[in-house]
Amino acid sequence: MHETVIPVSPDWAEGALINRARYEEMYAQSIADPEGFWRDVAKRIDWIKPFTKVKDVSYDPADFRIRWFEDGTLNVSANCIDRHLAKHADKTAIFWEGDSPTEMRNITYQQLHDEVCRFANTLLAHGVKKGDRVTIYMPMIPEAAFAMLACTRIGAVHSVVFGGFSPDSLAGRIQDCGSTVVITADQGIRGGKTVPLKANTDLALTQCPDVKHVLVVKRTGAKVPMMAGRDVDYFEFAATMPTTCKPVEMGAEDPLFILYTSGSTGKPKGVLHTTGGYLVYTAFTHEVVFDYRPGDVYWCTADVGWVTGHSYLLYGPLANAATTVMFEGIPNYPNVSRFWEVIDKYKVSIFYTAPTAIRALMRDGEEPVKSTSRASLRLLGTVGEPINPEAWLWYHRVVGEERCPIVDTWWQTETGGILISPLPGATDLKPGSATKPLFGIKPELVDSNGNILEGAVSGNLVLADSWPGQMRSVYGDHQRFINTYFRTYKGKYFTGDGCRRDEDGYYWITGRVDDVINVAGHRLGTAEVESALVENTKVAEAAVVAYPHEVKGQAIYAYVTLKAGQPVTDTLADELKKFVAEHLSPIAKPDVILFTPALPKTRSGKIMRRILRKIAEGDTSNLGDTSTLADPSVVSELIERAKQTS
Ligand code: WTA
Repeated sequence: MHETVIPVSPDWAEGALINRARYEEMYAQSIADPEGFWRDVAKRIDWIKPFTKVKDVSYDPADFRIRWFEDGTLNVSANCIDRHLAKHADKTAIFWEGDSPTEMRNITYQQLHDEVCRFANTLLAHGVKKGDRVTIYMPMIPEAAFAMLACTRIGAVHSVVFGGFSPDSLAGRIQDCGSTVVITADQGIRGGKTVPLKANTDLALTQCPDVKHVLVVKRTGAKVPMMAGRDVDYFEFAATMPTTCKPVEMGAEDPLFILYTSGSTGKPKGVLHTTGGYLVYTAFTHEVVFDYRPGDVYWCTADVGWVTGHSYLLYGPLANAATTVMFEGIPNYPNVSRFWEVIDKYKVSIFYTAPTAIRALMRDGEEPVKSTSRASLRLLGTVGEPINPEAWLWYHRVVGEERCPIVDTWWQTETGGILISPLPGATDLKPGSATKPLFGIKPELVDSNGNILEGAVSGNLVLADSWPGQMRSVYGDHQRFINTYFRTYKGKYFTGDGCRRDEDGYYWITGRVDDVINVAGHRLGTAEVESALVENTKVAEAAVVAYPHEVKGQAIYAYVTLKAGQPVTDTLADELKKFVAEHLSPIAKPDVILFTPALPKTRSGKIMRRILRKIAEGDTSNLGDTSTLADPSVVSELIERAKQTS
């Protein structure tokens, strides 16, 4: 807990889009009259047919609905591109910085228009229609953005799968949403290493007989096998396509995209976002949280495979006619000054990244930062996991030279956009706190019985009302949506996060209270990692927990029981780590594997994860209530083994 308070500077208080008085007035209005508030905000979007109804929401499972701007129609790509052309045709929409500093592209709004239309026409030529799901498995190249926007232009629903996921994970996501078209690249390239995207796709598709077309974008030019009749060389085909394509009129509640994310149980959920509310919410929050102005160069380092890459690399900024930087590489390639060099190269004024990147770069000291100018920077942001005060203060002092406020933005794939965050001209900052709710957001803390807790207190974070960017369903399983988020606490959306509120009404997110873990800002379910482990023929049972990690925030600790007669060899732990990397994702690779003859279970057979977490954290002095253990000797045995492993 950190006591530092960094007040809004006089410059910011005076010059910001929203100062403190304005925040308070707008917040009060947004809560008192949500319909009026959002009706006004929604004017920032061009509607083909204006909406008459603003909000129709009920969180009661028996009468459930979430609808915003329901009878309005619009097109997302027209809002992100066409409407800017009259004034901004030659303005840079995307600065693309390649993995190698020698590769770059400058894409104007006019070029973005032309390329998106070409892509849209290519999709149409391959039979993609409004409502069809298209899976995008791409590196961080402009064609990934073109592909996403092209889907929105013709009303197709994109499902972007992060390029770091395995063939099995890709296959599961393609099957779940029933895509018949997949867009990929020959290879990706990150940190000088290639990623075999097409080869992974080929493997995945052995499990996906319904996929008819694979559009392959050339990135590295590597020779990859092309299956006749199925695989299409994208550039070759697109060269023949026209650079105009009429945007399809979409209903505000028509699906816009699906993005798979991990939950506490079962396989990843297809989080479904719809068209009107999502665009209104991301455009609005991008402007107010980042104090975005027309002259800014804005850089969000997230991959398009995550929600941050959807909402704050593409849709929010482009809807605001911003110049957005898209970066293919990693923070420490070819050297650890890369982020700051890119900031100088494009004169980035707003920089948004993840705490894990800051913690990793902190380890290399101040010199690699100070050797760059960063004079263009005026605002910094973080997202994805709690930021520890040490990292926050370093980011503020070394990177921002105490001149740039930091917006610590709390939100989720499910929320579509930022819900709790400082506004740089309005909110005094406390390192480690996401501070205050944005407009229309009603956070509450509840105990495990759902009682609302008042004042300075810790509890489970719920949201008492809807906002336009909220997810609308779990694709293909609406009941799962209602059960997961709206049944735990009656009439409220449950976030899955624990949170403390201090005496100033500031919110401090403390991390997940469910079986979701957050490794370097990447969200994973313990159940997913466990099922990847038990897929290995040597493994009988596995239990996975998180433990604190200096750079990654959390790391994975796996307890593994082998099948009878299976010896623990010196190489087995590494073999299993590799197995998880290949079958799920390198992100999900356990840091520690502890072999054990048995797991601590209750008499009813439930694994006692609380105890496993304590052992992983090395905190075995107080294990809490162990009276329900079926066999207490398992625990002392585990503690012994853990000591030997660490
Ligand atoms: C965590 C990423 C603390 C949180 C946009 C949430 C955070 C989960 C913050 C969602 C933050 C995100 N401070 N924790 N500023 N931002 N989280 O779906 O636990 O990948 O529930 O969305 O990340 O992760 P997701």
